[in-house]
Amino acid sequence: MRDSRETFVNHAFVTGFPIKHSRSPLIHGHWLKSFGLPGSYRAHQVSPEKFADFLIALRDGSSGFCGGNVTIPHKERAFALCDRPDELSQELGASNTVWIENRLIHATNTDGYGFTANLDERAAGWDRCDTAVILGAGGASRAVVQAVRNRGVKTIHVVNRTVARAQELADRFGPAVQAQSMDDLSDLLKGAGLFINTTSLGMDGTPVPEIDFTVMDPDAVVTDIVYVPLKTPLLAQAEGQGLRTVDGLGMLLHQAAPGFERWFGKKPVVDDALRQIIIDDMDGHA
Ligand code: ATR
Repeated sequence: MRDSRETFVNHAFVTGFPIKHSRSPLIHGHWLKSFGLPGSYRAHQVSPEKFADFLIALRDGSSGFCGGNVTIPHKERAFALCDRPDELSQELGASNTVWIENRLIHATNTDGYGFTANLDERAAGWDRCDTAVILGAGGASRAVVQAVRNRGVKTIHVVNRTVARAQELADRFGPAVQAQSMDDLSDLLKGAGLFINTTSLGMDGTPVPEIDFTVMDPDAVVTDIVYVPLKTPLLAQAEGQGLRTVDGLGMLLHQAAPGFERWFGKKPVVDDALRQIIIDDMDGHA
């Protein structure tokens, strides 16, 4: 069967507003180069007012793109506007990866895959824990909650300053997910096997709460989805207390892989060379 992707060969985008700080072009550019592919992957800034027109133009090929990534603030609208959102997107209500197939816009969300692939690579066996504590209930938390639940972790405490937002996630993702207040964080950590920070706490110089990670399971893993800086204040605390930690850069790298394979037909590798390209870029912009 002829695949409509043939018509729009090898041009993909990342769109957001703003988009100039996106590191996705570096990631896909590295993969295109390593495969020797002639295609392109470029940042394309689109304002919220123009997003619907941009997305719909993909359908008939007039934009010349076979698909792309969608980031903040367009993920919810990408989901709402696409023709064929997959199950992950439907439950999340947000999509970050789109592609054209038979003149229809298909969409998925690879953020959760990126999160779990990073932990699989750097802390294999992380999913054998019974209890996870996730700090934050914003947009970035959703895909993480979904992914951890889908890997079978039985109890997932979503701890948030605004408990009502955590409750929204509990309602969305079912009985494994429980909404909790910040006051209960210390108790909830006792015996837990996984701690994930999805907030921007500490990034803007605001004080970070002292957290006693030593009460967690001896094999526990502490991770952060923020990757600038690589060692976030919370990761530094956990490391200082002797916990296993995983930084968030791998999530960014791994979430890119399914889209690349979809648009360019090759399965890319997340390796140290790629990781170093992003670290060098971060150093250059420090
Ligand atoms: P994102 O899409 O990056 O997740 P967001 O939707 O604004 O951004 O969510 C930010 C998260 O960080 C929320 O969980 C937020 O808590 P609230 O829902 O109570 O706002 C959390 N957050 C941000 N600053 C915080 C702070 N100083 N203390 C505690 N939580 C904070």
